[in-house]
Amino acid sequence: MRPSGTKIRNECLCGIAIFARQNRFTMILVTGGTGLLGSHLLFELARMGRKVRAIRRESSDTSMVRKVFSYYCENPDELLENIEWFDADLMDFGAVEDSLEGIREVYHVGAVVSFYPADHKAMLKVNIEGTANLVNLSMEKGVEKFCYVSSVATLGRGENGSPTNEEDFWVTTRRNTIYGISKYGAEREVWRGMEEGLNAVIVNPSFILGPGFWNDNSGLFRLVWEGLKYYTGAVNGYVDARDIVKAMILLMDRNIFNDRFILSAENITYEKLFGAMAKYLGKPAPSVKIPYIVPSLIWRLDAARTFITRSTPFLTKEMAHTMRQNYSYTNEKIRKTLDFEFTPLEQSIREICEIYLKEKSEKRKAKSEIQK
Ligand SMILES: NC(=O)c1ccc[n+]([C@@H]2O[C@H](COP(=O)([O-])OP(=O)(O)OC[C@H]3O[C@@H](n4cnc5c(N)ncnc54)[C@H](OP(=O)(O)O)[C@@H]3O)[C@@H](O)[C@H]2O)c1
Repeated sequence: MRPSGTKIRNECLCGIAIFARQNRFTMILVTGGTGLLGSHLLFELARMGRKVRAIRRESSDTSMVRKVFSYYCENPDELLENIEWFDADLMDFGAVEDSLEGIREVYHVGAVVSFYPADHKAMLKVNIEGTANLVNLSMEKGVEKFCYVSSVATLGRGENGSPTNEEDFWVTTRRNTIYGISKYGAEREVWRGMEEGLNAVIVNPSFILGPGFWNDNSGLFRLVWEGLKYYTGAVNGYVDARDIVKAMILLMDRNIFNDRFILSAENITYEKLFGAMAKYLGKPAPSVKIPYIVPSLIWRLDAARTFITRSTPFLTKEMAHTMRQNYSYTNEKIRKTLDFEFTPLEQSIREICEIYLKEKSEKRKAKSEIQK
């Protein structure tokens, strides 16, 4: 006999309640939570009431996490109570093992992100070996779901100039950056984990836009504020940090595994990107288009300067390379799989600029209060 409509409804409601309860009490581990993307992920998980353990190092600056929370809510400290901090370096096998105690889901965001030759060795080690360790330990500890943040740098290029998609596989060329090589090596470790039975999903974001890290990942906003004049004709893909974390959580909650997804909202030129930033920061747009040869010459001269003075380079070969690339990406797969809509880039840029301006004005006010 078929159960009555009420019974079906009650069973459904009961199922939803159990699902919600399971999610509330499922302990999640996040790596890289103190960075640009990781802090946005911590915010979204905390806002959803999920229980989160986040790893940090002795040198980590967790105040940035509070700052990012405060951009999006009135009660950052209340939400921060959902985060349990755990001291572990990705290279410390024992500490990572301990951090996985009682964990059912892992979001692996942490990585060394750098285009400086001085970081190459550590980057290869942390990104590849750190990921291999986390994958192995996750399987050993019975982690049920694993989400890895890779990069579009691990993808090949679309054929005949078409936008890159998830089926464009890695091609070894001299133009690959060490960062790309490290992320590709890490992604291979996650694919290996999937072969060995780990329920894992990989996301490949393009250039991430988000507020807060103005001297670092969000530095383009500061450069435009400070009067950047030059741009090249390069094209790249860009995506809002908030969209990435929403897509990651949806993929995990819907149990979509053994696959990878490009996360990129739009492909635009530097001229358009800087133009939008300038518009919303109230600054003149960079107006001098420089030929690709200029960054190529500058990095060579700068390499000679840094060799003689033993200082940090202003422009490296890899940075110069990104200034001449024409890369575009398709986001069709994630849009179709999750019925997902990306925030229009112009809106993301406007909202980040608003945060930048608000922070500037608060700093100015605080300074004048001190001077009074
Ligand atoms: N930014 C982009 O445009 C972009 C684009 C595509 C993909 N991605 C990927 O997205 C992820 C997040 O990038 P992001 O821009 O948010 O980077 P980020 O701001 O530089 O953050 C990196 C995070 O990794 C942590 N980390 C680095 N080395 C570690 C180690 N040895 N042990 C433990 N934690 C370590 C850092 O911790 P500390 O605070 O202690 O340094 C920080 O929390 C990375 O996997 C990156 O490859 C980034």
